Amino acid sequence: MSRIVHLNGAYLPEQDAKVSIFDRGYVFADGVYEVTAVIDGKLVDFEPHVQRLERSLRELAMAWPCSKDELREVHQELARRNNVTEGVVYMQVTRGVAERDFAFPKDVPSTLMAFTQHKSLLDSPHAANGVKVISVPDIRWKRRDIKSIALLPQCIGKQQAAEAGAFEGWMVEDGLVTEGTSSTAYIVRDGRVITRPLSQAILPGVTRKSLIRLATEERVVVEERPFTLEEAYAADEAFLTSASTFVMPIVAIDGRAIGSGKPGPVATSLRKIYLDAARS
Ligand code: PDD
Repeated sequence: MSRIVHLNGAYLPEQDAKVSIFDRGYVFADGVYEVTAVIDGKLVDFEPHVQRLERSLRELAMAWPCSKDELREVHQELARRNNVTEGVVYMQVTRGVAERDFAFPKDVPSTLMAFTQHKSLLDSPHAANGVKVISVPDIRWKRRDIKSIALLPQCIGKQQAAEAGAFEGWMVEDGLVTEGTSSTAYIVRDGRVITRPLSQAILPGVTRKSLIRLATEERVVVEERPFTLEEAYAADEAFLTSASTFVMPIVAIDGRAIGSGKPGPVATSLRKIYLDAARS
């Protein structure tokens, strides 16, 4: 059975959802997106995803395709119609269909598209065993705070990681780790969690935001400062976060074991704290 997807207000079988070749998402990658996790059939952290979408749209002067309430309804309805109890909802807004011209078209409605993916997020062997990452150069544009659908540098980084047998690529700029190709990067030293502060150099992760709040409530110190790759190699622990991985322990970076070479106690406990909160 094919999926039911959403396109501009309609729920359609995936093979019937068609977008013009002149859509600016197709021609210019002129669009933004969000990925929201579904656990127990419920959306995780939906409100901060909408807030980040609002920010991405505002920064690019792109029109909302529908109301926020309608967007929530689309997410819930897609999860329901596709029987997704565990997985993700992907959604993107593009600047709509217009004659090819670099400048933004006037009075063109945005295109809204959304679909679901079934994924085993909770009982992931990656979470139990930890994952490997490699470092890759950060070759992205300078507005990484906008969740743009233009992801070619991240695709190249993820492909390099896959070819090296790694789960993720940690992007490095001026010797400092910015973030993963599709996740936020953290190290742990002496029980303190270290992650890069928000700026235009990284995406403001929704999972990052929740995790920092929850960690602080549990009296885990979170230091928001840049860190080098060398510091990461020597860290007690490392981990990453994203909507689709939650908190994922890292056991090796560039082939060097991190700490004991097993998932560390801080990452393991933060994963549990995050998931308990997400499911409560
Ligand atoms: N990626 N940094 C980058 C570059 C990302 O693409 C993502 C998310 C994150 C983590 O953000 P969040 O916690 O809000 O998921 C950080 C999503 C999951 C993706 O592209 O599939």
